[in-house]
Amino acid sequence: MSTSNPVSSLIQPLGEMPPEAVIFGGTDVMRSLRERLAKIAGANVPVLIQGESGTGKDIIARMIHAASPWKTGPWVKVNCPAIPGTLLESELFGYEKGAFTGAFGMKPGRVEMAHRGTLFLDEISELDMSLQSKLLQLLQDGQFCRIGAQEDKKVEVRVVCATNRKLEDEIASGTFRADLFYRINVVNLRMPSLRERASDIPELVAYFLEYYNRKFNSRAKPLSADLMNAFAKYRWPGNVRELENLMKRYVILGTEESISGDLRPHEPDFFSADISVDGPISLKKITRQAVHELERKIILKVLQHHHWNRKQAARALNISYRALLYKIRDAGLPSNRAARRPEADEGNQTVAAD
Ligand SMILES: Nc1ncnc2c1ncn2[C@@H]1O[C@H](COP(=O)(O)OP(=O)(O)OP(=O)(O)O)[C@@H](O)[C@H]1O
Ligand SMILES: [Mg+2]
Repeated sequence: MSTSNPVSSLIQPLGEMPPEAVIFGGTDVMRSLRERLAKIAGANVPVLIQGESGTGKDIIARMIHAASPWKTGPWVKVNCPAIPGTLLESELFGYEKGAFTGAFGMKPGRVEMAHRGTLFLDEISELDMSLQSKLLQLLQDGQFCRIGAQEDKKVEVRVVCATNRKLEDEIASGTFRADLFYRINVVNLRMPSLRERASDIPELVAYFLEYYNRKFNSRAKPLSADLMNAFAKYRWPGNVRELENLMKRYVILGTEESISGDLRPHEPDFFSADISVDGPISLKKITRQAVHELERKIILKVLQHHHWNRKQAARALNISYRALLYKIRDAGLPSNRAARRPEADEGNQTVAAD
């Protein structure tokens, strides 16, 4: 199979990555991840990478490719949510001339471009059911069909998938095929949140400080012990990405005040018995806050489930569209999918785990 020219622009360079010592740090959870990665990189089996947003799923996927026997082959990444549903099929599988109105010539898909290399499907839960079936066929026998083609084609491709959703929940709600899940989940890598590896924070801070000082030709000083303490206690809903962004801002603006305000306090857990009863308590206030928090979590989960379609979400919640818009604003939730912040996904996971 040949990979012709229009295709090569979609094959992404592996790009600059932090050194391995920084990526993995020193915690046990990351050490075992590194060992697992070394074992699986060479085996041609699909890998599913799961983890909250900003935990490094992209980095790990690229490392799998770089450590695999197909490292000289193409690295093709498909960001599933970024391509509108109707286009995704032709992007992935390509089409023949005349397959649909506007198909003036044939176009190979990204599956073909990844021949003898790695196909990275990011946010796999966004594939609709019909594309899930086509992907299942590809994983079962290496075959797929361009849109409008008479015959199947065969490719040799290593498939790596990533998601920040709990696919088990998607299966339960009927939006993800269980058989596909078992196919892509031959080997699973779970990326720990930054909270679970808080002892790696100083090393990451030192790395990002040096990196951005060099990049912006700055001389920002190491962080104070107080701020490092605050970092250690913070929940990091956006994980390493959030830490990296804070460090970038610190280097550009040069003062600790420019970032310390962003370290939002822990969300109080109203549903555990941890609430301090030493001092006076306002039962009314606590109950109101708890109801508010529960409402926020439910709305977020329903919005996620309906792919941020607010009309459908309002129907599912049995409230009016206007009431939902008001509640979204009131709860400080992002108004649409594009504007959603990493914490929105994190919030969803919290609900899913409940
Ligand atoms: N372990 C790590 N070491 C160094 N940098 C990291 C690490 N993990 C993430 N980063 C940095 O954080 C940012 C986000 O990482 P990445 O895109 O891999 O996360 P992700 O899990 O794919 O997030 P999303 O679910 O939002 O796609 C990148 O700039 C990356 O360089
Ligand atoms: Mg990613």
